[in-house]
Amino acid sequence: MTGSTASMPLRVAIVGCGIIGLNHARAILRHPDLVITALVDAVSEAATALADQIVAEHGTPRPAEFGSLAAALAGSDFEVVVICTPSGLHVALAEEALTAGKHVVIEKPLDVSMPRAREILTLSQRAEQQGLLVSVISQHRFDPASKVVADAAHSGGFGRLTSGVASVAWWRSQEYYDSGDWRGTWELDGGGALMNQGVHTVDLLVWFLGRPVEIDARTALLAHERIEVEDVAVATIRFDSGALAVLHATTAAYPGLSVRIQVHGDRGSAIIHDDQLEYFSAPDAGSPDSPGNIAADLLPASEVRGGDRGPDQFVIGHLRQYEDIVAAIREGRAPGVTVADAFLSLAVVRGVYLSASLGRPVLLDEVLDGALDDVVVSTGVHA
Ligand SMILES: NC(=O)c1ccc[n+]([C@@H]2O[C@H](COP(=O)([O-])OP(=O)(O)OC[C@H]3O[C@@H](n4cnc5c(N)ncnc54)[C@H](O)[C@@H]3O)[C@@H](O)[C@H]2O)c1
Repeated sequence: MTGSTASMPLRVAIVGCGIIGLNHARAILRHPDLVITALVDAVSEAATALADQIVAEHGTPRPAEFGSLAAALAGSDFEVVVICTPSGLHVALAEEALTAGKHVVIEKPLDVSMPRAREILTLSQRAEQQGLLVSVISQHRFDPASKVVADAAHSGGFGRLTSGVASVAWWRSQEYYDSGDWRGTWELDGGGALMNQGVHTVDLLVWFLGRPVEIDARTALLAHERIEVEDVAVATIRFDSGALAVLHATTAAYPGLSVRIQVHGDRGSAIIHDDQLEYFSAPDAGSPDSPGNIAADLLPASEVRGGDRGPDQFVIGHLRQYEDIVAAIREGRAPGVTVADAFLSLAVVRGVYLSASLGRPVLLDEVLDGALDDVVVSTGVHA
C-alpha cells in the first residue's frame, strides 16, 4: 500500500515516455498536488529525452530514470503509476503496479484484450477496497461541452433518447503508422481508427446514450499499407433504451476533418463538434428553445463552436482528468472514469471488430461474457 500523506504532493512514475507520456508530464507538472519522481521506458533514450524536456520546460528536479517498472518499484518511491505504453501492455503493467500497492492511471484504451480487461476489472474492484484508485484516461469526459450534454442526457433534458451519430473523420499518414512497430498491429494497438483514435468518441456515445445491446459493423483497410488493422470502421448500435446510433471512425479522411457527436431525443438535441458545443436544445432542462443562444448561455465562448480554445487544449484535457483523479485519491472516492467505464467502451470497440469479422451483428453480452473471445478478428473481409 502506498505511503502517501495528505500534506505531501503525490509522487508519480510515468511508464512509457513517448508522445502521450510527454502530455501527461506537462499536465502533471501543472497540478500543484502532483510531482514526477520517476520515468520508465524500455528505450533508455526515451526516458532521458523526457527528463531533459521536463527540466528544460519547468526547471523542476530531474526525475530518476528506469528501464522497467520492476526496476522503478525496486529503486524509487512513489504513490501513483501512470501507464503510457502501447495499448496491449496496459493491463500487465497496471497489475504489476497494483500488486505493489500503487494508485494507477491507465491511458486509453484499457487494453486490447477482453480476457485481460476482465482481469483488471476484478483486480481494480479488490484494489478499491484497499483504498487504491484505478482510473482510465478518457479526457473528453471532462470537456465542458461533454459534461453539459451528459447532464442533459442523464436527467431527461432531451426527453426520451432516440438516436445518436458519432463520426471521427481524421487522417493519419503512412509515416504515422510506420513511426512505431506497435502501431497498426492487432497485438499492441488492438485495432486501427476505432480502437486508437475513435475509442474516445465511443466512450462519449456510450456515456450519453447508455448501455449498448447490439452492434452491426463493417471495417476496411483502404488508404494505408503495412498495417494489420482497419482505417475505416462503420457500425450501427442499438441501445438498451431502444435508441439507435451510427458510428464512423476513420484515419483515411484526407486531410483530416472533425469529430462530431449528435445526441437526439424527443424533447431536445445536442451536437458537439471538435469538443466544443455547437448546438444545444433541451427545453425540459430549463433552457430556452433557441439553439444559437443556448450554447453561449451555457458555456464560456472558448467551449462553444468557433471559440478560441488556446494552444494547449491537449494538456488541459489531461489536467482536468488529473484534477478528478487527485481529488478522488484524497477523498477516498471512485474516480470520474472507472475501469468499468473503460471496460464497456473497449467491449463496444471489440464488438465492432467481431461483427465485421464474423459478418453478422453481435450482442454486447456475447463480447462481455467471453463467448467470442476465441474469434480471430481481421480487417477488410467485407470491404
Ligand atoms: N488520451 C489520448 O488522447 C491519447 C493520445 C495518444 C496516445 N494515447 C495512448 O497512449 C499510449 C501510448 O501512445 P503513444 O502515442 O505515446 O506511443 P509512443 O510509441 O509514442 O510511446 C510509447 C512508449 O512506451 C515505451 N514502452 C514500450 N514498452 C514499454 C515497457 N514495457 N515499459 C516501459 N516503456 C515501454 C516505448 O519505448 C515508447 O517510448 C497508447 O495506448 C495510446 O492509445 C492516448
